Amino acid sequence: MVMELPLLLILTVWVNARGVQSALPPNCSYPPSQWCSSLDSAAQCGVLKQCLERDFIRSRQTAEPVEVALYYESLCPGCRLFLVEMLFPSWILASGIMSVALVPYGNAEEKVVGHKYVYQCQHGEQECLGNTIEACVMNMTGPAAFPIIFCMESAADVIKAAESCVGVYSNVSWSSIMSCVKGDLGMQLMHQNALMTAALKPPHEYVPWVTINGEHTDDLQKQAMSNLLGLVCNKYKGTKPDTCVMGQHSQHFRSYCHNN
Ligand SMILES: *[C@@H]1O[C@H](CO)[C@@H](O)[C@H](O)[C@H]1NC(C)=O
Ligand SMILES: *[C@@H]1O[C@H](CO)[C@@H](O)[C@H](O)[C@H]1NC(C)=O
Ligand SMILES: *[C@@H]1O[C@H](CO)[C@@H](O)[C@H](O)[C@H]1NC(C)=O
Repeated sequence: MVMELPLLLILTVWVNARGVQSALPPNCSYPPSQWCSSLDSAAQCGVLKQCLERDFIRSRQTAEPVEVALYYESLCPGCRLFLVEMLFPSWILASGIMSVALVPYGNAEEKVVGHKYVYQCQHGEQECLGNTIEACVMNMTGPAAFPIIFCMESAADVIKAAESCVGVYSNVSWSSIMSCVKGDLGMQLMHQNALMTAALKPPHEYVPWVTINGEHTDDLQKQAMSNLLGLVCNKYKGTKPDTCVMGQHSQHFRSYCHNN
């Protein structure tokens, strides 16, 4: 599924995730002209919302958003790092010009046993459980899905965090998520992810594996891992929002889980 930006929800998640509670007095060490110059300065100076809204309005989606798809698995450390530190923040900053599709499956294997699909995951059964919870969350929680998955992947224990992440960011009951996970729907969703992953051209060699508008090359992957926002801004054909000139910390996430 493709996720659009629910701005207020995201802001809440982001601010909570950074531990910057709005009740605390801002600790702002930047002059006003630099408040909107980076995510850190905006958060520190308590103007994140204003900076993002300004950009959101200015961008006005003058072209199709750039489609970023992430093929990953729930417990692969490199996937977690990329999702939490790069994909989610870029999605916030690139509001309106970037859509995200998440495909939790990665290097899992599918077998048919009787009338069922069964899965073996690279990091064991817990990872299959995490993948299926995330697939069900995407099917059932609408625009809250990405914040919920971000919340899970940034927690110390992805699986243990799931219930409270769902509770904080949606009103979908945990028991209905779990009946998806344990039932035919969860199996169907995982099978769809298996098919989508198997259909990748070129086939994935590792995860996190990124496609941009459906395309994967070594160069796109490298750019996505070091400066996704820059890449998206570059690919966007419409009027570029101000966030495109904001400095995103250039980071290099090169931790991969390989597919044998
Ligand atoms: C403000 O932030 C700086 C560095 O980010 C820190 O050293 C300082 O202790 C903080 N001050 C308060 C009052 O939180
Ligand atoms: C949820 O999954 C079912 C079964 O694959 C599908 O028919 C339905 O459209 C999905 N809903 C969403 C919101 O993705
Ligand atoms: C969640 O709450 C909203 C109103 O805030 C309501 O429209 C929606 O139907 C609820 N969803 C579920 C799954 O209960």
